[in-house]
Amino acid sequence: MEEEYKSKKDAHVLILPFPGLLGHMNPMLQLARRLVSKGIKATLVTTIFLSKSVTLSDPTGSICLETISDGFDQGGFAQAGSDEIYLSTFTSVGSQSLANLIKKLGETGQPLVAIIYDAFLPWALDVAKQFGLLTAVFFTQSCAVNSIYYHMSKGLLKLPIEEPNVSLPGLPVLKVSELPSLLYHYGSFPALFDMVVAQFSNIDEADWVLVNSFHHLEKEVIDWMSGIWKLGAIGPTIPSMFLDKRLENNKDYGIGLFKPDTRTCMNWLNSKPNGSVVYVSFGSLAVLGAEQMAEIAWGLKASNCYFLWVVRESEEPKLPENFKEEIREKCLIVGWCNQLEVLEHASLGCFFTHCGHNSVIEAMCLGVPMLGMPQVHDQATNAKYVEDVWGIGIRALADEKGIVGREIIKECINEVMEGEKGKEIKKNAIKWKNLAREAVDQGGSSDQKIDDFVAQLLCA
Ligand code: UDX
Repeated sequence: MEEEYKSKKDAHVLILPFPGLLGHMNPMLQLARRLVSKGIKATLVTTIFLSKSVTLSDPTGSICLETISDGFDQGGFAQAGSDEIYLSTFTSVGSQSLANLIKKLGETGQPLVAIIYDAFLPWALDVAKQFGLLTAVFFTQSCAVNSIYYHMSKGLLKLPIEEPNVSLPGLPVLKVSELPSLLYHYGSFPALFDMVVAQFSNIDEADWVLVNSFHHLEKEVIDWMSGIWKLGAIGPTIPSMFLDKRLENNKDYGIGLFKPDTRTCMNWLNSKPNGSVVYVSFGSLAVLGAEQMAEIAWGLKASNCYFLWVVRESEEPKLPENFKEEIREKCLIVGWCNQLEVLEHASLGCFFTHCGHNSVIEAMCLGVPMLGMPQVHDQATNAKYVEDVWGIGIRALADEKGIVGREIIKECINEVMEGEKGKEIKKNAIKWKNLAREAVDQGGSSDQKIDDFVAQLLCA
């Protein structure tokens, strides 16, 4: 019975990212592209609500798009109103809707061999198993962060944490403040906490555990995790045209949730000297307080550098009064940009970032030094690695009120742009850029893992 839903000729995989999270959808889209380039047929799944607003830029036309319901077809997450309601409804409605989609694909002559699902959606594994499909769970965040969450979920890291430092296999010693925020704000976000723990509830049943990292980057923890699961460190999953110059005419690459102001950004960057611009962005989700926004604004001004600052529409009212007029000569503020194109530009000297995993990986692949100002989730751990493990940036630390002051921001920017530490960071940035490219080049460690995975798909 299950056979009718399984592909016998082509290897067709369904890819299910957590809907609406750009930091999850983009890497999974890039993974889809890699699989397609190796002869696999890929279908990306989003929700009915998101499909009305999401544009999938797939110039090759080789990735199909399908939808399932999260139970909130009219308004998505906003309609649900809370993490708890959204996640529990998505689990029940999404399971049924995913099962219907698998049946439909089987009946319309496009049967599947496997599902690659976001680690935040573990119920997808249970659905896939009902149809006898291969399963691969995809973790968006770093292996270090996954390992911390794994230890937490198994009770191997006792919460609340009472020791000043934490030691885990394959990781540097971490201060409590360098752990993901769910651990040091233990108890504050119960629905998110449960979702993070649930990632590991059925993981032992998954055929593969895929991570957006590469072997050289997190060697110790990847080796340690490979002892537990069939691990595929297949990253970095950034679009191949940013890794391979031969593909550079093809800049149409992502999932559009916000509209980028590409021409304005490129014209402005083109007019600036090489290595002179600080690019500032805190990703798709971070919400900063007005006081913090003001400190960033005045710190940037005091640094006397050129800066391109992404301030999403919802954050714009927090800019200090008259700020735009005061810094017109030195600054461009936009609502959204094509981050990869900006990071690739020769005028860039530093990326002032919240250290979301994708932002860190993208800057690393393009050799851009970083100044990290982590906000929530995995970002403090990522920032620790950026500074102390990979040496490709520094961190701007907050005061006891949790604010990073303008003086600190100014000093840190100047240090990265022209200080002694900055010189070392630039050297390391080039080294890691080359290592990242080697990993995904033909025969590199990530490329080999994808080939192993594809081989299994082809004989499923
Ligand atoms: C979230 C979490 O916050 C992050 O900590 C986690 O590691 C992944 O999921 P987000 O905050 O959006 O993601 O940050 P990040 O992971 O850096 O992803 C942002 C994405 O948006 C990147 O791919 C970046 O290229 C893109 N982006 C950002 C743009 O394309 N344009 C912009 O102007 C800003």
